[in-house]
Amino acid sequence: MTCETYESEADLAAALGRRVVGLIQRHPTIVLALPTGRTPIALYSELARLTRLEHVDWSGVRTFNLDEFVGLGGGDAGSYRRFMQTRLFDHVNLRAGHIGFLDGRAPDLEQECTRYARAIADAGGIDVMILGIGANGHVGFNEPADALLARTHKATLDLPTRASNALWFDGEIARVPREALTMGMATILQSHAIVLMGTGESKAEAVNAVLTGGITTRVPASFLTLHPQVTMMFDEPLADAMATLR
Ligand code: PGA
Repeated sequence: MTCETYESEADLAAALGRRVVGLIQRHPTIVLALPTGRTPIALYSELARLTRLEHVDWSGVRTFNLDEFVGLGGGDAGSYRRFMQTRLFDHVNLRAGHIGFLDGRAPDLEQECTRYARAIADAGGIDVMILGIGANGHVGFNEPADALLARTHKATLDLPTRASNALWFDGEIARVPREALTMGMATILQSHAIVLMGTGESKAEAVNAVLTGGITTRVPASFLTLHPQVTMMFDEPLADAMATLR
């Protein structure tokens, strides 16, 4: 596992954006898994900027997002599908058929999870998985629990997770769905390479637990330490806050 620390969130986004563009240029049919949340916002603006500037060709790229709220789909405000459309997809020439997303409005959610897993397998698996981390140590919506699920599934969201997602719903926690569909731990760990982004002091305890606490279902991101090719990218506020915990 490699850990890198950048002076600011913007520097981290610039470094990762440059890396992703380099990957797309060298591997035009790369399969990427993408996160939502506050953390990747700077990354997506950087990718949009670099794409404009350098005419990056995304036409062969495939993407799969990690998760989506149950009850929400592409047209809905607050959906992760909408988030990705405005932050990234509107700014690059990804083909509509190459955008993989869980549909939180699918009539049969179990079938939807199976469809998604099959779509990932049909694409040949994930080459590079980009992740954020929750303050509670979650990745995707794999929340801390006595047992984690390997495959794509419907998850019940912890209250802190719903609270941190309230900003997509005008700050109203009550409007944040209680359930979501998410890739499971096996799908994440089967990716060829994983990049985890962590920014801000609110993530210090979770990242510290990942790096020093051993592998535990109470910190789902700790399972990433089993993977042979993980890069963790932090900003200084997170690294500084972590240093005070040691
Ligand atoms: P955040 O969420 O980027 O909004 O902090 C990260 C996550 O929950 O994975």
